[in-house]
Amino acid sequence: QSNKVEVVVFSAPSYACKRRTTLKNHNTLLTEALSILAESAELNEDEGRGVAFRRAAAVLKCLPKAVSSMEQLRGLPCLGDHSMRVIKDILENGASSEAESTKQSERFKALKVLTGIFGVGAKTADRWFREGIHSLSQLQESGHTLNQAQQAGLQFYDDINLPVSKTEADAISEIVEKAVHAVLPGAEITLTGGFRRGKLTGHDVDFLITHPEEGKEEGLMPKVVSWLESQGFLLYQKTTRNSYLESKDGPGRPASNMDRFERCLSIFKLTKDRCVGQKQGTKQSATPIESHVKTVCSLGDPTQAKGEGNSESLTGSCQKTEPNPQSHPHPLSQIHPSNLTLNVLGQEKSLDVDQAQTSGHKPWRAVRVDLVVSPVSQFAFALLGWTGSKLFERELRRWAGHEKAMSLSSHALYDNKQSRYLRASSEEEIFAHLGLEYIPPTERNA
Ligand code: CTP
Ligand code: MN
Ligand code: MN
Ligand code: MN
Repeated sequence: QSNKVEVVVFSAPSYACKRRTTLKNHNTLLTEALSILAESAELNEDEGRGVAFRRAAAVLKCLPKAVSSMEQLRGLPCLGDHSMRVIKDILENGASSEAESTKQSERFKALKVLTGIFGVGAKTADRWFREGIHSLSQLQESGHTLNQAQQAGLQFYDDINLPVSKTEADAISEIVEKAVHAVLPGAEITLTGGFRRGKLTGHDVDFLITHPEEGKEEGLMPKVVSWLESQGFLLYQKTTRNSYLESKDGPGRPASNMDRFERCLSIFKLTKDRCVGQKQGTKQSATPIESHVKTVCSLGDPTQAKGEGNSESLTGSCQKTEPNPQSHPHPLSQIHPSNLTLNVLGQEKSLDVDQAQTSGHKPWRAVRVDLVVSPVSQFAFALLGWTGSKLFERELRRWAGHEKAMSLSSHALYDNKQSRYLRASSEEEIFAHLGLEYIPPTERNA
């Protein structure tokens, strides 16, 4: 019998798209610290550093056990000196001093609060921060002109920063199905994003819409949006039309990370009886009860900035990390209560902060919803591209480009050696084209 102590030395492929990453994470202490540093780098618009920390966190997420000593990490890829120091700090002291001081820094806290506003990305938040705007109340006092997305983002700040549950996502699915089928029977709706990967909560709900007959999906989005609007389901929406054919993204250069599908970034109004504890068999029609309670949060004058100003691209939201409402003080605690009034059945009441935080006073909540329409010929690529995780997607594209001389986008896969597009009607076929073992959505949580 040997008295040598067995050390489990971990190993893993360096591309996240070759690993199976479920939601079971045995190293949350490590991955949360590395994610904070990634988030901080992203907020500072240091993409390279952000990706490096994301990769380091992701490799730890797929391990079958908790890391207990540095020597177990010998065989792992993606762990640079900096990440190793962070891990060592946690293994020795129970926490990363760098992650802790980042979390507590004035800049990080402020940028988190400001980018928590829908329509505000790292660039705008940084500019405001440098002007001395560190809180929502300071933003209001500044008299800055906000675009419509940002106005909606501020108005529904609390709801939007409250995680969306799977039950709420299912209720939204029903509404979206009803809307799509009302305007195009036979169209198909697929839940994508984090919920397709099996997550139990999300920062929004993502859908991909197609029709089995190519071309039938054209012009669908404006009709869906009109239907939703007429039924009172939309608090905000911005529709972008399909620009794939007119784009200059030739085969050689699918350059922009952004896809060109017809899409709608929206904020839904979900009535509460649809999102919590709905009784079986008593589902009511999708038409919301005409609301007699009107909430007016006086966060600036909504007419003030119409059509103007800051056109920060919403792609900024791509770089945002998963919202973690517990990780920073609630921004409404920084709004002077007198700035918030609630008009209930015509009576002005001041809104106390606790009520504002739980949104318990109104019979509905705001939910961010992304709708994307794809022609059926591109559906598999769109599905793969919109299922995520973001790091998994990035790694798939890196694998395609660096290892296979192919260009992968949410529209197509181009083989640079054969100078042709490779068709696929399922995700399995795309993985096969890429020479990768198929990884199901629930194992793409890198
Ligand atoms: N995506 C994209 N283009 C955008 C926005 C998102 O291709 N402009 C893709 C992302 O790469 C991701 C998927 O859409 O694969 C879902 O993005 P998002 O909703 O931001 O993230 P989730 O993984 O769904 O996480 P969460 O639960 O926080 O919503
Ligand atoms: Mn999502
Ligand atoms: Mn989304
Ligand atoms: Mn919050």
